[in-house]
Amino acid sequence: MTHSAPIPAGANPAPTPDQLKTLVGRAALDYVVPGEIVGVGTGSTVNKFIDALATIADRIPGAVSSSEASTARLQALGIRVFDANAVERLSVYIDGADEIDGAGNMVKGGGAALTREKIVAALSQRFVCIVDESKRVSVLGAFPLPVEVIPMAAQRIARDFAALGGTATLRLRADGGPLVTDNGQHILDVRGLQIDQPLDFETRVSQWPGVVTVGVFAAQKADICLLGTASGEVQTLRF
Ligand code: A5P
Repeated sequence: MTHSAPIPAGANPAPTPDQLKTLVGRAALDYVVPGEIVGVGTGSTVNKFIDALATIADRIPGAVSSSEASTARLQALGIRVFDANAVERLSVYIDGADEIDGAGNMVKGGGAALTREKIVAALSQRFVCIVDESKRVSVLGAFPLPVEVIPMAAQRIARDFAALGGTATLRLRADGGPLVTDNGQHILDVRGLQIDQPLDFETRVSQWPGVVTVGVFAAQKADICLLGTASGEVQTLRF
């Protein structure tokens, strides 16, 4: 475990969540390989990484993005975005998480981008997860598990989760309509699960008809976690 990027002396000793996101976003620059395309996730923490990436944009050809939102931010900062199909492999994928356990398994999809996130992660040799320590858990499942589904299968999939002890609700937009993902599908959020065998769970649920992507990332788990801590240091966890 290494420590880096302390909060400057004289600053607030208890960094805000936003400051922690900035710290881990900047720390992730150490994992960007000069001359290579980088995989970019989605979310408020990744937004800080994208802002930091813009400072070294001249050293990389560009990025493969995991969402329309990240693509827009990358392009606005002058970073070229490549189609995932144009890339054979990526050295590194940088993304946040909603939960991460002691082995690097994650729950993701709070921002509804889980399908493209899993696709870009699968292209990548190394997954660097950037989070603050509030995301660290011993067992996955306290955060409602996002599952992207084909709309006509949503109710049946909700009943299948009920049989596992979970309660699935359809994610809604602010205007009350169902949230529609970048892929034109819906999201179920499943509460009440304890996911103590993440790879088995991911493998099983991924096979249910109508499930596009389950938000457990065990097959594509993190290799490294840059963890922002209350002391203002970034801890590096390797799995
Ligand atoms: C996006 O769909 C998610 O997987 C995000 O990576 C996750 O929700 C973390 O987002 P924040 O960095 O905004 O907490």
